[in-house]
Amino acid sequence: MNHHDPDYENRITSPVYVPEDEEVEFSLRPKVLSEYIGQDIVKENLKVYIEAAKKRGEPLDHLLLYGPPGLGKTTLSMIIANEMGVNIKITSGPAIQKPGDLAAVLSNLDSGDVLFIDEIHRLSMLIEEKLYPAMEDGVFEFIVGNGPSAQSMRLNLAPFTLVGATTRAGQLTSPLRDRFGIIMRLELYTPEQLATIVTRSASLLKIACEKDGAMELAKRSRGTPRIANRLLKRVRDFAQVVGDGRISKEIVDLTLRKLDIDELGLDSLDRRMLHTMIVNYGGRPVGLETLAATVGEEAVTIEDVNEPYLIQLGFLQRTSRGRMATASACKHLGIEINEQMTL
Ligand code: ADE
Repeated sequence: MNHHDPDYENRITSPVYVPEDEEVEFSLRPKVLSEYIGQDIVKENLKVYIEAAKKRGEPLDHLLLYGPPGLGKTTLSMIIANEMGVNIKITSGPAIQKPGDLAAVLSNLDSGDVLFIDEIHRLSMLIEEKLYPAMEDGVFEFIVGNGPSAQSMRLNLAPFTLVGATTRAGQLTSPLRDRFGIIMRLELYTPEQLATIVTRSASLLKIACEKDGAMELAKRSRGTPRIANRLLKRVRDFAQVVGDGRISKEIVDLTLRKLDIDELGLDSLDRRMLHTMIVNYGGRPVGLETLAATVGEEAVTIEDVNEPYLIQLGFLQRTSRGRMATASACKHLGIEINEQMTL
């Protein structure tokens, strides 16, 4: 069995952001809601909230976006700021370490601005508690001096919109979650939506892309635009060196086979997980921690990154007794079902 792979986060199939994504994501990012593909319910509702807030001349309510990484939470918050006609400041939970860090970002906001906090579940409790009065009453509270002469001071802030992003809403404390007026969940994209995104990206990057090429890449990108756009760059390399420069189904297939990504976009960790559940556990429920230890990966990574896609494919079920592989997973891996299995 393969042991923990420290490079997992660096794999091409990891939806977790890496600095190399910036170049592509920056140039490909849609600027307005109408250019944003997929997430239809989120888009329709946001359109109403934005229009209503603008009509009232008020900032948009604080908004929580949650869902697996790589689906466009940052992009969406930039679109919101653009459509509201305000500035956006982007930071993250781990970047705000001291109350002074938070005071600095908050006091730099102009009226109506968007403050985007990525990985908001990683804020410390101390910072989180400073955020409550800022969100609710537009004040930042701090203490100057110490001992008997200590004084509580209040800094009045310009009205702003906090957009928080997290992979799971359940990771937030309820006092923080309750302070968001709007909570929206982003879903993995369908292959058709991803094919549209790939076609759009190829056109912006001036890469010739055939329809079946885009669809093949889309089917193997785990419902995640970040992965699709990253794979597109690798396929372009193969297309230029081995092919005629065009993104065809054949070139996509060749590239992804070289990258050890299967027909449904599963990488070796996904396959190892399913294999363990089927072969070692015979399809019986496995606890997340046990599964994580067996495949040598962190439980949170499995939960946030691998599971959503395996669940969407119908290869894995989450039950109260643990995770279970399904008969379709067994079929996909080409393992024969026997009497000992409960699949
Ligand atoms: N690039 C990444 N996500 C996108 C989306 N939802 N629509 C258009 N382009 C994208």
